[in-house]
Amino acid sequence: MATEREQVGVVGVGWVGLVTATCFAELGHGIIALDVNEEKVESLRRGEVTIHEPGLSELLVKNAERITFTTSMDEVLDATRLLFCCVDTPPTYSGDADLSRVRSVVQQLPEDSEHALVMKSTVPSGTGASIRRDKPDLPYVSCPEFLKEGSAIEDFMHPDRVVIGADAGSEDAASAVERLYEPLGGEIVRTDVASAEMIKLASNAFLATKISFINEIANVCEQTGADVTEVARGMGLDDRIGASFLRAGIGYGGSCFPKDVSALKQLAGNSGYHFQLLNAVIEVNELQKRRVISKLEKHLGSLVDKRIALLGLAFKPDTDDMREASSLVLSARLQGEGAKVVAYDPVAAEGASSMLPDVEMATSPESALSGADAVVLVTEWPEFAELDWVAARDSMASAVLIDGRNYLDAETLRAAGFAYEGIGRPDAQNGA
Ligand code: UGA
Repeated sequence: MATEREQVGVVGVGWVGLVTATCFAELGHGIIALDVNEEKVESLRRGEVTIHEPGLSELLVKNAERITFTTSMDEVLDATRLLFCCVDTPPTYSGDADLSRVRSVVQQLPEDSEHALVMKSTVPSGTGASIRRDKPDLPYVSCPEFLKEGSAIEDFMHPDRVVIGADAGSEDAASAVERLYEPLGGEIVRTDVASAEMIKLASNAFLATKISFINEIANVCEQTGADVTEVARGMGLDDRIGASFLRAGIGYGGSCFPKDVSALKQLAGNSGYHFQLLNAVIEVNELQKRRVISKLEKHLGSLVDKRIALLGLAFKPDTDDMREASSLVLSARLQGEGAKVVAYDPVAAEGASSMLPDVEMATSPESALSGADAVVLVTEWPEFAELDWVAARDSMASAVLIDGRNYLDAETLRAAGFAYEGIGRPDAQNGA
C-alpha cells in the first residue's frame, strides 16, 4: 500500500498527532493533517504551535511544505489511503476511556478496502475488534504510541520498539505502516490487534506501578532512615529491574498514566476481573501528592495564613501540560488548610491560571519565594537548580524547603541554611 514516499493522513493534531505528522514529514512523506478545531488548524497553517514541546515548532516550520492542515475529511480521504487516528480518548466519570472522538472518525470513513485506519489513540483492548465488526472491509492496524511529552520528537525518531497489530485481511496495511517506521531502527513487534492494544495499556500501567512502588519504598525509608535515591540506585543496577522510572516524588500526573491505569482497571472490571494491584497503584499516587502537607506542618505548625511558594506547576518539566498535575491537588489541599499559595512555572503558569484562580502567579522564582514561609519544589525545571538559594533564603520569611522531586542537592541547601526535606530521604536530624 505505501510507497517509498507515502501520503499519510493524520486525524487529530494534539500532542501525538502533531508529533506524528511533523516527524513523518521530516522523514520525507507528504502529510495531510485534520483537526475539527478550526482555530487550531488556522494557527498551525501559520506555523504556530500552541503546545510547548521542545523542537516541535522548529521541525514543523522546516517541513511546512510537506504538511497540509485541513478540517475536511473528504480532502483527507481524497489525498491518502493510510489514516493515522490520533484523537484523544479522555477519561469519563466512570474511569473508562471516552471513545466518542474515535467513533466519530470511524463513522466518517467509507466502507471500502481502499483506505486503512491506523489507530494511534490509546484505546481499550477490544476497540479494534468492535470497529471491524462495524466496518468489516476497512483494513485496521493498531499502532500505539509510546512517546513522552517533553522528549516526544526524540522518542518518535528513536523508538525502543514499534508495535504493529493487525488481524487477517489487514496485513497489507500493517506492512505499509511497517515500511513507514523501518528507517527509525526500533524493533518492530508485529502482532494481533488485541495484543497491540494491551501492550500499550500494560506498558503505561507497569511504569505507573514502578513509580507507586518506589514512592511506597520512599515512605518506608522515611520511617527507617534509609535514602530512597540510594535504594533506587542500588535496585536499578539489576538488569531485571532497570533504573528508569524509579524516581520517588509527589506522584505521577499527565494525560496518560492516570487515565490509562484507570482505563485498564475498568476494562478488567467490565470483563469480570478485579485488578487489585492497580487499585493500590492509584491510591498510593493520590496519597503521595498529599504527604507534602504533613511535612510542611512539621516545620510550620498550622498552615493558616502561611504563604507557601510552589516552584513548578506542569506535571513534569519541558511541557506546559497541566492535566492531572500534582500541583492541582497540592494547591487545593494547601488552600484547604488555610494557606496562601503563590506559584511560578516558566511555561505552564498562563494556562494554569484558569485552573488555579486563587493561586497568585509569580513572574519569577525569586518573586514567588520572597516573603514565603516555605517553598515546595513541584516540577523539576532545570532553572530551579541554578537559583541563588542563599539570596532566596534571605528573602523568605522562614527557610523551609520541601523538594517534591528529590531534585536539589540536599547538602548545598542545608549549607545555605534551609530546613530541607525531600521524599524518602533522611532529614538532617536523623543524621544523613
Ligand atoms: C507516558 C509514557 O512514559 C509514554 O511512554 C507514553 O507514550 C505516554 O505516557 C502516553 O501514553 O502517551 P508522559 O505522560 O508524557 O509519557 O510522561 P512520563 O515521562 O512518563 O511521566 C509521567 C509522570 O510520571 C510525570 O508526572 C513524572 O513526573 C512521573 N514520574 C516519572 C515519576 O514520578 N517518577 C519517575 O521515575 C518517572
